[in-house]
Amino acid sequence: MTTTNSTSIVNSFPSLPALARDDFPTNFAWGCSTSSFQIEGAATADGRAESIWDRFCQQPGKIRDGSNALVACDHYHRWPEDLDIAKQFGMNAYRFSIAWPRVISELGAKTNQRGLDFYSRLVDGMLERGLQPWATLYHWDLPQYLQELGGWERRATIDAYLEYADAVTRHLGDRVKNWITHNEPWCTAMHGNWDGMHAPGQQNFKAALQVCHHVLLSHGLAVPMIKSNVAQAQVGIALSLHPLRTASDKSEDRAAMQRHDGLRNRWFLDPLFGRGYPTDILEHCAADAPVMASGDLDVIATPIDFLGVNYYFPETIVDAPELPPLHTKLAILPDRERTDFAWEVAPDGMRELLVRIKNDYPKIPIFLTENGSSYDDKLEADGSVSDTRRRNYFIRHLDALKQARAEGVDVRGYFAWSLMDNFEWAEGYLRRFGMVYIDFVTQKRTVKESGRWFSAFLNQNK
Ligand code: NOJ
Repeated sequence: MTTTNSTSIVNSFPSLPALARDDFPTNFAWGCSTSSFQIEGAATADGRAESIWDRFCQQPGKIRDGSNALVACDHYHRWPEDLDIAKQFGMNAYRFSIAWPRVISELGAKTNQRGLDFYSRLVDGMLERGLQPWATLYHWDLPQYLQELGGWERRATIDAYLEYADAVTRHLGDRVKNWITHNEPWCTAMHGNWDGMHAPGQQNFKAALQVCHHVLLSHGLAVPMIKSNVAQAQVGIALSLHPLRTASDKSEDRAAMQRHDGLRNRWFLDPLFGRGYPTDILEHCAADAPVMASGDLDVIATPIDFLGVNYYFPETIVDAPELPPLHTKLAILPDRERTDFAWEVAPDGMRELLVRIKNDYPKIPIFLTENGSSYDDKLEADGSVSDTRRRNYFIRHLDALKQARAEGVDVRGYFAWSLMDNFEWAEGYLRRFGMVYIDFVTQKRTVKESGRWFSAFLNQNK
């Protein structure tokens, strides 16, 4: 859809919606997201312990290009340059995650001051540049020493998480007010323990549901702790959510979509908003259902200040009678626009998802904590990177966000994934998501066309 706006100066591109920063409120959070394991490198610096992802990278065949994140973007040493770029982009917020293995180096150990000091410097660097820090406590880099004892499948890991969260929030809480307890618990649980695509690489559905329960429980227990450690804390969780479609109008496809929705979306949203796990899914879980203690569901439903939504793509479901009911099957429709990572590009899916959350769940402020696309960017001989498709992806998704707001969804901020190309988990360095191109040999940073657009967009009328 094309709209016109006289204040739009940076993107009157034919066939793209016109968009201006002042289509959004002045106090809107504009930022980008990163995560510790994907950018920091410095894997053994200053007492950092091994994480489950360091271990996973060592297993042959787990990472598509055989790489690891020992160096990644070397952000641990180059963070001033990276934060300078975020500032130049005109951002007022920056979402990052803290590496648990830097903060608590050994089982039962006290906090590692050098690890905490790094995050202290980083946070000060954000504040000096006018970037409001948004800290994620868990973005998948569990200390390996905890995995040895059973990882998130073991209930006692929650206690270890709370000790870690307590230390970090006490240390940074005078300067960091926005806290995200967990990033994408679906991925922690399901990629980590069901399909095994992520660390620790287990393939066991029952274990995945137990992990999920412990992660959600640790979230609920962390909320009041963070609030008692941090004056004026705003605490939330970032979920990966997907709007869903069916491959056809057949009732079997619709039923399969309902089951998929139950595990993908409602399994997280329902308990967080006090409804417990969806009963239609629990019926299919039978003996795989998580072991719970009385009161767990109340803890998970501890009120939060905001919901973080990571939106990338919709999913289309086709019935697969040959599979167990919860092993739903994705249909790959050939006529869809896709990124080079084969993810469907569907800006309106973002609007649809946000409106659904507004309609189906209690009122809650929402922050779009991740949204972005991966393309096979090339550094040209003249030193430029023309990622026009990523630029257009951002424009179209921001327009969808604007429409969601017009439909009454209380979205208060947008964080692009990601500031710079980084270690994309099981894909290694094969998938570039950044607005800044990283040459992983020289570590040279080059702002791409999408970054130049973002900068022009955010700096207009400032
Ligand atoms: C979700 C994750 O939070 C992030 O770590 C990942 O790199 C992006 N999406 C892209 O897959």
